[in-house]
Amino acid sequence: MDQNIKKLALRQISYGLYIMSASDGTNHSAGTINWLSQASFQPPMVMVAVKADSRLYELVEKTKVFAINILSDSQKQIAEDFFRPTTFEDNKLNGHSFIAGDKGAPILDEIYAHFECTVSGKMELGDHVIFAGEVVSVGQRGDGKPLEMSTTGWFYGG
Ligand SMILES: Cc1cc2nc3c(=O)[nH]c(=O)nc-3n(C[C@H](O)[C@H](O)[C@H](O)COP(=O)(O)O)c2cc1C
Repeated sequence: MDQNIKKLALRQISYGLYIMSASDGTNHSAGTINWLSQASFQPPMVMVAVKADSRLYELVEKTKVFAINILSDSQKQIAEDFFRPTTFEDNKLNGHSFIAGDKGAPILDEIYAHFECTVSGKMELGDHVIFAGEVVSVGQRGDGKPLEMSTTGWFYGG
């Protein structure tokens, strides 16, 4: 397989950018992710690939709950703030205030829409673990257009 074409072809996949988060009530983790898709209407499900050696993976595995915070097209800076490991200071995650969602996962105050999932299953086949999550709680605070990877100049894939 031609490695350059593999990289180019895989980078043609379209993505949004989201802050995925989890909490056990004491420990919190949140990271910017893009490997996310809806995967079922009934029940409503998504699938998301999470780095196997990340704190986020550990907490989702422990709690079986995660939130997807949907970034708007004006929130590229928030995505950047969550590329780095999670800090929890002054009740903020990486400098951003949040509340616990209905299922306990962190929901950032600035986010216009979110959903929370309970983990229904997982597949460990590569360097990322694929979680299948059932959408069990949703919230909206306003209107927005989602932040799309293609507008950022960033890549995660290839
Ligand atoms: C553009 C971009 C997209 C990313 N997408 C994902 C992703 O889909 N899944 C993932 O696990 N990490 C993804 N990451 C990495 C995480 O943002 C980052 O490594 C993580 O938040 C650090 O968390 P940790 O301290 O728990 O390792 C992405 C990074 C970048 C720069």
